[in-house]
Parts: sequence; structure tokens; C-alpha cells
Amino acid sequence: MATVKITVRPNGPYRVEGPEGAIELIDPAGNKHDLTGKPAFSLCRCGGSVNKPFCDGTHSKIGFQGAELAVKKVEGS
Ligand code: FES
Repeated sequence: MATVKITVRPNGPYRVEGPEGAIELIDPAGNKHDLTGKPAFSLCRCGGSVNKPFCDGTHSKIGFQGAELAVKKVEGS
């Protein structure tokens, strides 16, 4: 079985990497996204992308902070 790697980027997207054909990305209507030629892609975690579910870099423009950092700030404020 192919290994798929998902990496949480600090204050950014989920980076998904795997052999072509090993990953299926399904929208809420049950349709498959065409991932042909995309062995790696980033999924938006901030909610600001205009190209969801993919990251378009908006997270850095809006100052998105991942939950892991936001929780640490609240606890240590
Ligand atoms: S995580 Fe990059 S645009 Fe949302």
C-alpha cells in the first residue's frame, strides 16, 4: 500500500504528498477532484482561500495562526 504523508504547516495549510493515484479528494457532492499530475498539494486550513479546498497563500496575508499556536498564546497570555 502506498504511503501518503500529511504535514501540518506552521500557521499554514495541510501539505498532502503521495504517489499519483494513491490519493482521492472528494468534494461535498461526492465528486472527485482531478489530481492528475499532482503528487503533492496543499489543503487550506485557514478558510480564506478562494480556491478551496486548495491553499492559495491567503493564510499569510490574513495572519492566520494555527490552533496549536493560538492555544499556546491564550494559555500563556
Ligand atoms: S491555509 Fe493557505 S489559504 Fe488557507
